[in-house]
Order: sequence, then structure tokens, then C-alpha cells
Amino acid sequence: MSQTPQLLVAAEDSAGRAGPLPRLARLAYGGDYNPEQWPESVWAEDVELMRVAGVNLVSVGIFAWALLEPAEGQFEFGWFDRLLDLLHDGGIGVDLATPTAVPPAWFRRRHPQARLVDRHGLALGGGARQSFCPSSPAYAEASARITEQLARRYADHPALVLWHSHNEYGGANALCYCATSAEAFRDWLRDRYGDDLDRLNTAWGTTFWGQRYADWAEIEPPSHAPTSVNPTQQLDFLRFSSDAHLGNFRRERDILHRLSPGVPVTTNFMIANCKTIDYWRWAAEVDVVSNDHYLRAEEPDNHIELAMCADLTRAVAGGRPWLLMEHATSAVNWQPRNIAKRPGELRRNSLSHLARGAESALFFQWRASRFGAEKFHSAMLPHGGTDTRIWREVVALGADLPSLEPLRGTRVVADVAVLWDWESWWAVELDWRPSVDLDYRERMAAYYERLWRDRLSVDFAHPERALDGYRLVVVPSLYLTTPAAAENLRRYVAGGGTLLVSYFSGIVDADDAIHPGGHPGALRELLGLTVEEFLPLRSGETVRLAAVDADPARAGAEVTGDVWAEVVVPQGATPVLSYLDGPAAGGPAVTRHTLGAGHAWYVSTRLTAAGLAPVLRAAYRDAGLVPPDGVPEGVELVRRAGADGSRFLIAINHTDREVELAATGTDLLDGSFQPGVCRIPAGGVRALRA
Ligand code: GAL
Repeated sequence: MSQTPQLLVAAEDSAGRAGPLPRLARLAYGGDYNPEQWPESVWAEDVELMRVAGVNLVSVGIFAWALLEPAEGQFEFGWFDRLLDLLHDGGIGVDLATPTAVPPAWFRRRHPQARLVDRHGLALGGGARQSFCPSSPAYAEASARITEQLARRYADHPALVLWHSHNEYGGANALCYCATSAEAFRDWLRDRYGDDLDRLNTAWGTTFWGQRYADWAEIEPPSHAPTSVNPTQQLDFLRFSSDAHLGNFRRERDILHRLSPGVPVTTNFMIANCKTIDYWRWAAEVDVVSNDHYLRAEEPDNHIELAMCADLTRAVAGGRPWLLMEHATSAVNWQPRNIAKRPGELRRNSLSHLARGAESALFFQWRASRFGAEKFHSAMLPHGGTDTRIWREVVALGADLPSLEPLRGTRVVADVAVLWDWESWWAVELDWRPSVDLDYRERMAAYYERLWRDRLSVDFAHPERALDGYRLVVVPSLYLTTPAAAENLRRYVAGGGTLLVSYFSGIVDADDAIHPGGHPGALRELLGLTVEEFLPLRSGETVRLAAVDADPARAGAEVTGDVWAEVVVPQGATPVLSYLDGPAAGGPAVTRHTLGAGHAWYVSTRLTAAGLAPVLRAAYRDAGLVPPDGVPEGVELVRRAGADGSRFLIAINHTDREVELAATGTDLLDGSFQPGVCRIPAGGVRALRA
């Protein structure tokens, strides 16, 4: 432990900008390091190669519980001491994980009542990971003990930069239906309803189907049942389950804060890809937000989904910098077909996250595993070693990162806010909705993609968050709308904002009870209309829409929708597009309502990608938004601004040909000056300082 890594500084970097990791003075580069898979003789080579690659931060110990505590209460830290010292000597900072995502086999054997039970009552097997009940007192005790041991031992270790609690809470064991969970659920409900069973009965609407409860002990989790289980019971169980994991996180965080003050604590989110965790609530509890992102490798233009996840991560982080905790250098091993990244894709992916607010590019994992479940997963150091394309790209990216330091402390400039809400996602996809084709994430991704293609930058926002300053707010799906959210949107529009709301929004309150007075109860006055009937479409059925004042026979004036249509009755709103055919033929399909100084648009069908373009363009006009002109297809743009007036434009060329963009500035990456016409090589990236 002799050498002080140059990376560790007291608080802020030399320019006075505090990043998410006060102890790390640079953008973080590295990844999960699981050296327990290798003889110690390999570790020195690892550290040597990390230095070659520019690695400055590794996450260690994530799955090491069985090795750190081989028998209950017996600890073996010698190997871990040597590892941390070695990393420190090599100038590599440590993101130190509590290993609590995988309890050792002895825990499972000793505490069979801590096993995860699925909704069919089946206790799930071991030999995997995360197969424990999140509400288990035995787990709480054991995980607190190992956390405390680690914190006591390593709080003052000079390599320590960050604590990493657990791994992907809610990933594999999101929901547990065992007797312990049932008890914990009841406790949670007593808390939510102020120990007042009448309140619960009212919230759950238990007078219907004769479900009234007379005793808390009668309440069960929504296990597999003969038919649909009470929707509010299901919704509350989802809330409870997110909170059960949050309780586990808080326990570890509080131990770490107490024993290791001043060192930030994070846990890796899986934003937009983990439905069961309400990350708005979680983000308020971590010292720094971090996220894992894996490309949907088979999907075309999957960098757009990446951008959406990065923007959503920045949103839950409150606009502050966040950490990209995991992504892949190339293929993963858990998708149906694990498509390798093409040359340059790794760099573009990492730089897109960085452009959108990440202050790290960390990967799963450092060295590819020889054995176990993830041996076909890519790594920074592939099975083929250093004479490989992936290694060369890893080294090149590590060399690139320092040039992007000026981006730290600057903020992404966004034009549009898109509302995202986990509770609404949960509620809209419960069973017995008007259509099984209601798909929250699909609508989010569809609207996001249109905005991305129009080169408008997006901030996501919670529905109850103030929206001043955005020219346009888009609500792709908000079935569950609280009165506070509805009032927030009304205030925004009345104050001059432009709002666009998509179908089946504003329908229920936080208890999944229909807002009274006709649909969409929470938004009726704001949108200036009533939805008299939902008209879900048959599988594959489409509807045609045309401008009300255009000749419907004119080809090209039409747009198409599917999945959903409605009988929309304007009450102040003006029809803009109407249905040409289908069950709502002749009725309004898209409307516009003027309220105060602003406008509220309503879209009553699932517009196809092509259909979204003209409708959003019309809303942009109201919002005074002009999508940048002349940006070549396939080029991603992110604008950043510093408090000191500095301006940056990051342009990522996802095509395989050189493109030109009208922009001036000096490229942080290669130092070249781009005078008016910025040339971006095929698959390349420019980070221009204006
Ligand atoms: C993540 C997980 C890692 C690794 C990775 C593989 O979800 O946190 O431990 O399994 O996936 O893509």
C-alpha cells in the first residue's frame, strides 16, 4: 500500500468541478473485475494490462461472498487484501461491492425459508444467482454482517473510490410470494394505509367481487389464482416489492455511511429494462446514480434505445452526472442470438453514454471467463488476449477518454421533456385491460425514436415534476395519472407550453380507480375532450387517418394507426386528423386544444413510426421548435453547455460512410478544427467545442 494513485484527490478536480466520484479525478474507465476466477499469478498481468488500457476503476467483490465468508461467520480476507493492495499499487481505483446478490450455498442450506418462491408457490432452485427472498430476516442479518465486515476492513483503504451495494437489485428475484414476503407485504400495507383496514378496502375497491377484508391477516400476495387478482392488490404488491429491495439497499448503505463516511454509495440500476424497480424512488437514495446497459443487439438502430436509456438515467439522476457501471465490449451471452459489435460500435456506444451525462465507461467484465455461465460474454480482455480487435478498441477508447474531460461539469441541453412513470407502466400492463397490446415501453420507445430522428434532445421527467422551460412535453402513455400530475400538466399548458398526450392516458388514479366523469378523467379539461368509448383493434388491424381539412383521397396525406382507436368527443378541442375507416370512422383521431397560453394535443390511436412524424411536426410548430436541418441520416447529436458559457456538440456517425455536418469547432477527440463543415468519418465521433 505504498503508492498513492494519482487518481485519488480530496474533493474536486483541478478545475473545481466535482464529478460523481470526488475521489476520482478523471472520467472512470474499467469494469467488473472478478479475479477470483483466476490464480493469483494472473492478477499482476491483469493490473499491467489495465494500465495499458487506461483503466482507472474496477468493481470488485460483486460475487465473492462465498469466498469472503466460506462458512457462516468465518471470514477470509487475505486474498482480498492482496487484491486491493495490488490494484492500489497499480494506480487502479476500486469500486468495492458488497457481495450480497449471491448468498453462499451454506446460507441456502441453513435457511431454506429464505428461498425465493414464485407466484405458483414454487421454491426456486439454487446454483444460480439472486435466488433468495428479499424480505428474509435471515438474509437481512447475513447481508448486514458481510457488509459491516467489508466496511470495517476497507473503509480506509486508499484504493477505495466508491461502494457498490449488491448487484442489480430486483434483477432475478424481483417478486417473492413466500410466507415471509406475505407477512412483510401486510406490514407494508399497514404502513401505507395508516393501519386502517377501511382505507385499504376502499383503495382496493373490495366491495366488488366480495373481497372485503376484516383482518390484516387475511391479505395475501397476488399469487397465481383461478382468475384475475384485484388490480390494486397487484399494484400495491409491485410497490411493496420495489420497496422491499430498497429496504435491503438502505440497510447496506447506512452501514457503509456509518463505517466509511465520505465514500459515496451506489448500486447499479437497469433503467428502462427492469420494470419492477421504481427508479425515481431509488435515485433519491443513492449518492450517485449508476446504470447498466446492454444493447438489444438484434434490433436495427439499437443505438436509439441506448440513447433513451442514457437520457432516462440522467433524468433519475436529476440531471447530475451518472456512472455507466456496465456495458459490453461486444456480444452478451443471454440474448437469443448474441450479435457481436461491429468495429467502432463499442466506441460509439460508450461515447453516446458519455455524451448523455455518464462520467464513466465501465464494462462487464475485465477478463473473459473460462468457465461458468458467462464464458461466451465479451470482455475487455477477450479469450484471444491482446492481439485482438476488441482489445485494440478497448485500448484506443481508454486513450480517447482523457480528451473528453472538458465535458465534465457541463450539462446536456434538452428541448423536450417526455414523462416516464414506473407506477403507470405497472398499472397499464396488469391483466384485464381493454387490450393485451397496450405496451408502455413500446410507446415510450416509439415517441423517443421519432424525437431522436428529428435531432431533438430529450429529458425524461416524473409526471409531478415542474416542467417550466420545456417547449414541448410528450406523454406517450400515462394510464395512471395522479391529480398532482394532472394539475402539473394543466399549469404547464396554461403557462404557454405545448403538450402531446397519447391514448389511454389520464384514466385512473393511484389506486387504479377510474377518474370520475368520463375518460380521460384526469386530463379531460386540459385536452378539451371526452373519450366516450375505447375501441381496441383486432390483431393486425389498422386504421387510416387524414387531415380533416384535406382531401381524403389525396395519397400521402394519410397516416396509419393500429392497436387502438377511440370515440373522441371534442369539448373545446379542434379535430386535426380524423379516422377514415375502422370502428371510429368519421370521428376525430388527433385533436388540438388551446388552453391559456398553450396547446394540448391528443392522439387517440397507436400511430405507426411514419404516422408519428407529421403529427409531432405539427406539435413542434406550436412549440416553436425547429428540428435542425441538413443533419445526415444516422447521425446522433447531443448538445452540452457549461455554466461558464462553453458549448459542445457531440456528433456520432452511425453510418458506414463519411458524412458532413454544418458545424464549427475544435474536436476534443483528435484536436482537429472543423471550419463550418464538420466531416465525421464513417462510424466515427466528433466532440466539438464551439
Ligand atoms: C448484468 C450483470 C452482470 C453480468 C452482465 C452480463 O446484468 O450485472 O453481472 O451478468 O449482466 O451482460
